[in-house]
Amino acid sequence: MVYLTRRYRLSAAHRLHNDSLSQEENARLYGKCNNPRGHGHDYAFEVRVAGEVDRRTGMLMDLAVLDGLVERKILNRFDHMHLNLDVENFRTKVPTTENLCIEIYDLLLPYFSPACPGPDAVRLDGVRVEETRSNFFEYRGQNNSRERI
Ligand code: NI
Repeated sequence: MVYLTRRYRLSAAHRLHNDSLSQEENARLYGKCNNPRGHGHDYAFEVRVAGEVDRRTGMLMDLAVLDGLVERKILNRFDHMHLNLDVENFRTKVPTTENLCIEIYDLLLPYFSPACPGPDAVRLDGVRVEETRSNFFEYRGQNNSRERI
């Protein structure tokens, strides 16, 4: 098994706010991140795929294919957007970096399913999103765990 990790960047604004909580609870829970007009982050995120090396190409996956997928499915959707206002799924889900990480993974997953054409020998192993230099989150899917490696 070989792993490939590719790093990307995206800039976006968000506001941490849950409509089902009171103004006071939101302010207490999210602090400055609950400021009404939101704030921005320069996120870095990593997509990790795993599989066997293709004997013909000597590669796990064509990076151009991965880049094209990330461009179409992730960057076009999130880059330079306001996550709460511009992204359908974040109208009902708080756009924390935890949820952004899961969202990126879930958007990419169908393209790695054996049922779909494309890099079917390659599986999506995980997505890691860095919010700041000190915080990062990683999601490896519902049925995935490090122990299985
Ligand atoms: Ni933030």
